Amino acid sequence: MTKETLYLISYTWLAIAIAVHITMFFVTAPFGRHTSNKWGKTINNKLGWIIMEMPSLLIMLYFLVCGTNSFHSYVWILFSLWIFHYANRTLVYPFRIKSTPKKIPVFIVINAIVFNLMNAGLNGYYLSQLASVNDYNSDWLQSPQFIIGFILFATGLFINWRSDSILINLRAPGETGYKVPNGFWFKYISSPNLFGEIIEWSGFALMAWNLPAFTFMVWTFANLVPRAKNHHDWYKKQFPGYPSERKIIFPFIY
Ligand SMILES: NC(=O)c1ccc[n+]([C@@H]2O[C@H](COP(=O)([O-])OP(=O)(O)OC[C@H]3O[C@@H](n4cnc5c(N)ncnc54)[C@H](OP(=O)(O)O)[C@@H]3O)[C@@H](O)[C@H]2O)c1
Repeated sequence: MTKETLYLISYTWLAIAIAVHITMFFVTAPFGRHTSNKWGKTINNKLGWIIMEMPSLLIMLYFLVCGTNSFHSYVWILFSLWIFHYANRTLVYPFRIKSTPKKIPVFIVINAIVFNLMNAGLNGYYLSQLASVNDYNSDWLQSPQFIIGFILFATGLFINWRSDSILINLRAPGETGYKVPNGFWFKYISSPNLFGEIIEWSGFALMAWNLPAFTFMVWTFANLVPRAKNHHDWYKKQFPGYPSERKIIFPFIY
């Protein structure tokens, strides 16, 4: 595939992200607390997470190992960061979440597979086949773009993991209900785990500085901002004393 073709696919994929973003403010994605049996067949929640996140992990591993340019520059660092995140999401996170009777619709799993095929496919192909060796050389490693991007990525990852852990530990073994989370960034926002994920992929986009990475950052924002709004509205409805000063996803802003 030429760079022009990949750019054309990326711009189309970006346009779809914007359409999905707007739609998600009106249609709540039916998984987790918003799960519903109106969306057809459902499967075990943990299995659903493994199946839907696995393509991202495998595709990036494939391009790292089999791609033409993966080891001709420091581009392997970008692959490693992506693989590190998705190894947790695919192989660790599903085993940490508490088991509940809730299932995940196959519709959501299929949508997430398409999301991961596209984003990992575009990023993996670009980095391993199309990026120039000079794009990710030793100057890049010492540039403010790499250093700031890496700090953002690591900070976002930490916020995401720590917030996910706080949420997971709200339930004692055997419990299935919901509680109001407190502490850490929950003091400021309802969904610091989703905020952390946005910061993480913004850092990645800054480091990588290419269209597919930018596209993935936009998709993450497009997905997670409406989901955080759905979570926030849900908390306010379920818990009448929910802290009124708490924002949705961006501290002090939204
Ligand atoms: N890159 C992307 O576009 C993307 C898209 C989706 C998700 N993600 C990531 O995947 C992870 C999960 O996302 P999510 O939207 O499913 O997160 P979430 O709704 O916050 O749930 C995270 C886990 O904590 C439990 N939980 C949440 N709030 C709780 C509460 N108040 N009391 C008790 N338990 C609670 C949930 O249980 P239940 O499942 O029973 O509600 C679930 O096991 C996040 O790290 C997110 O960043 C990324």
